[in-house]
Amino acid sequence: MTGMGPAMRFAIVGAGVIGRTHAACITELAPDASLVLVADEVPGRARDLAAAHGADAATSAEAVFSRDDIDAVAICTPSGRHAELTVAALDAGKHVIVEKPVDVTLDAARLVAVAEARAAATVTVVSQHRFDPSSQLLHRAIQQGRLGRLTSAVASVAWWRSQDYYDSSGWRGSWALDGGGALINQGIHTVDLLVWMLGEPVEVSARTACLAHQRIEAEDVAAAVIRFASGALGVLHATTAAYPGLTARLQIHGDRGSAVIEDDQLTYFYAATESADSAGLNQAAGLNQAADLLPGQAHKQAAGSDPGALSDAHLYQYRDFVEAIQQGRRPAVTVDDAIRALAVVTAVYESARTGEWVPVENGRPIS
Ligand SMILES: NC(=O)c1ccc[n+]([C@@H]2O[C@H](COP(=O)([O-])OP(=O)(O)OC[C@H]3O[C@@H](n4cnc5c(N)ncnc54)[C@H](O)[C@@H]3O)[C@@H](O)[C@H]2O)c1
Repeated sequence: MTGMGPAMRFAIVGAGVIGRTHAACITELAPDASLVLVADEVPGRARDLAAAHGADAATSAEAVFSRDDIDAVAICTPSGRHAELTVAALDAGKHVIVEKPVDVTLDAARLVAVAEARAAATVTVVSQHRFDPSSQLLHRAIQQGRLGRLTSAVASVAWWRSQDYYDSSGWRGSWALDGGGALINQGIHTVDLLVWMLGEPVEVSARTACLAHQRIEAEDVAAAVIRFASGALGVLHATTAAYPGLTARLQIHGDRGSAVIEDDQLTYFYAATESADSAGLNQAAGLNQAADLLPGQAHKQAAGSDPGALSDAHLYQYRDFVEAIQQGRRPAVTVDDAIRALAVVTAVYESARTGEWVPVENGRPIS
C-alpha cells in the first residue's frame, strides 16, 4: 500500500475481545485506513474502544449503516449474528470484513454470498492463519507438487478453555450464537487450513462430547475422519478440554514429502528432490528442511493467548482486504472459502448427531 489514496474509513460492530484486535489493525494501517465509529450494544464497551482510537461511539449497528462517511465495516459480534449484520452492511453499500465463522448455519452463510453478488462491495471472512508465513509456504509447496500426491493429514487443536470462559458470555458454546463449541469456535481456523491445503472435502464421520465443562449446549471435544475428493484422508481433533492447553498442529503427508505446522510455525518440512530417493526407507524422517525454508521464524502469539492483542496475521489479512478493494480484485479469503470450512464443521455436527457418514456438500446423511 502506498498511502497515496484516501484512507478507507472503517466502523467496528462489536467491541468485545476480537473487536480490540480489529481496532488495533485499522489504526496500524494509517494512513490507508482510519477508524471512524465503534458500535456495541453495551454502551461502555463502544465508548472505551472508540475513545482509545479517537473514534465516535454508537449503541446500534444501524447507526453504522446509515452513515455515509463509512466505507467498510468490521463485524465482530457473536457468530450467529454475522450474516444478518454483513447482509445489512452490504445492502447499505459498505465493504465487510467479518470474523470467523461466516455464520453458524450454511443457509445463513449463503445469504452473505447472495448479498455480496448483488452489492458493489467486497467481503472477506477472517481466517488469519492463512497469512502466516508457514501456511503460505506450505500451500505454495503443495500447489507446486513438492509433497507429491497428498495422502493424509492430521489436524489437532488441543486447547483448554476454563469454565469461566464459557460463563463469561452466555453465547459461548450455544447452538444459536456460537453454532457449536470447540470445533466451530476454536477449531475452525485449522479446519480452514486443512481444506485449503487438501482441497475439496467429500464426506465426514464424527463423534463429539462435552466432558470437562458445564452449562454449555455444545461439545468441548470433537473427533472426525474426513475423506477428500483427491482420495486423501484427514483426521480432525478439536477440543477446549485439553488441560492446560497445548498446541494447534497441522500435519500433512504426501508420497514425496511431509510437513508440520505447530502454533503457526513450520516445525517440519521435507520434500524429496529430483535426485533423492523417496523409496520409503524412512531415511528422510530425520531430515528437516524447515529451518532452511523459514530461517529465524519470528516468535508469534502463542495459540490460546489473548486474541485481543494485535496479531501479525490479522494485520496481513486487513492489508489484503484494503488492497483488494483498492485494486478491484478478490480478497485472498472469500465467502466461498468460509462456506467450505463451515460446511465441514456442520457436517461433523450432523454426523455426530446421526452416527452416519455425512456428505460435506449439503450436510445431509448419505441414504
Ligand atoms: N479470528 C480469531 O482469532 C478470533 C478470536 C476471537 C473471536 N473471534 C470471533 O469474533 C466474534 C466475537 O468474539 P468475541 O470473543 O470478541 O466476543 P465478545 O462477546 O467478547 O464480543 C462480542 C461483542 O459484540 C457485541 N454485540 C453483540 N451483538 C451486537 C449487535 N447486534 N450490535 C452491536 N454489538 C453487538 C457484544 O455486546 C460484545 O461486546 C466471534 O464470532 C468469534 O468467533 C475470532
